[in-house]
Amino acid sequence: MTQKSPVESLIQLSAFDPVSREDPHARMKPLREQCPVWRDETAKTWVVSRYADVRAIVSDNTLWRNGINAEEGSFARLLVNQEKLDLPPGERQSILTMDDPDHARIRTPLAKALYARVAKARPKIDAIVKETLDGVAGKKSFDLIEDVAIPIPIITIARILGVDDARLGEFRHWSEGAILALNPVRTPAETAHMEASNAALDAYFTELMAERRAKPQDDLVSDMVALQAAGAPLSDIELKINLLALLIGGNLTTTDLIGNGVRLLLLHPAEREKLAANAALAPQAVEEILRYEGPVDITGRVLSGERELGGCPMHKGQSVMVVLRSANRDPDIFERPDAFDITRKAVPHMSFGGGTHICIGAPLARMEGIAFFSVFFQRFPTLKLVDEAPQWRTLPFFRGLERLMVEV
Ligand code: HEM
Repeated sequence: MTQKSPVESLIQLSAFDPVSREDPHARMKPLREQCPVWRDETAKTWVVSRYADVRAIVSDNTLWRNGINAEEGSFARLLVNQEKLDLPPGERQSILTMDDPDHARIRTPLAKALYARVAKARPKIDAIVKETLDGVAGKKSFDLIEDVAIPIPIITIARILGVDDARLGEFRHWSEGAILALNPVRTPAETAHMEASNAALDAYFTELMAERRAKPQDDLVSDMVALQAAGAPLSDIELKINLLALLIGGNLTTTDLIGNGVRLLLLHPAEREKLAANAALAPQAVEEILRYEGPVDITGRVLSGERELGGCPMHKGQSVMVVLRSANRDPDIFERPDAFDITRKAVPHMSFGGGTHICIGAPLARMEGIAFFSVFFQRFPTLKLVDEAPQWRTLPFFRGLERLMVEV
């Protein structure tokens, strides 16, 4: 691709950039139109923004995920934990950045157990949504993020894992600490909170696994230790790293699905009225929220061989970042891509990635979103935004609100 890119660096597509923080599509649209396959030489990565190309890359299971295979100095390499390079692959990273055969070895039993748990979780999730909304019901105004969108995913995953009620407060504190791992510009206090939380979660998971081995309960940790006992080839350390990955991968993202969705529906009263009048629209509303303002901007792969995309020759070991958010607004796929319409029929958005690394928590996130949006606007029919100017978080490559003050 010889055309000059309208974007100078990958970072300009993230919430670190004031223009993108305000409206990511102000940068993504011209990039997709003018330079859909672009090489950022500073970050040493390809940046791919057209739907067809994004889908082709994430669905290609011959590509690598682990940044260790990427060229020196490339963006993908930043995700490699240099301090743990001497450890075996399963003990230095989660499935998120792992390649086969280790990825399949660990993901297969975890997905099997998680999906079976999620399939029967709806009554529990409905009860968690109800309890959480009961907690704000008497207030004249509240922060939807702090009071509603943060607790729902944390309590849900705690119940699925089997966290004891008495430890729920601590578990929430540690979970909030663990997701600080997503923030590359932590304050020293945040880093200390993250490290203490990771250590506490590690100790707690060790304890929970021992308890469930001795006395199984109806929860995911019991399922996982039973699968280990039945021969699933994953160690305790690998299991703990991946239980932690469920918290890191799942909590903030689902918070943002709820927070971004509430804001969008408050800004689009006609859509909100349709949903309030017909709770059966909740599944479509969730898909449209994921498409229109999904929580995650990008994901990535590493080239395992030579290939060509959009006329550009790409080489083995090069990093490729795919802009999921841009793919979700591609007019080649979506009619009126910039319209928020919860009655869209097919919404094949890219917000959960694809291929063998497709988000393992997607069925759970969808279920939480559907449980929430099926009841929220019936329960708060007069809800208003206190301030229309959104307070977006400055977390690179995630889009979500710091606060969302609403008035009943
Ligand atoms: C709306 C909410 C969510 C969004 C938008 C989201 C998005 C994503 C994306 C884009 C990926 C990368 C996929 C790829 O590279 O192809 C991913 C992977 C992952 N997500 Fe989610 N996620 C969400 C919720 C969750 C939940 C609830 C959990 C845990 C219960 C979770 C756990 C994970 C894990 C462990 C991976 C790594 C999977 C692998 O590489 O095999 N996510 N997610």
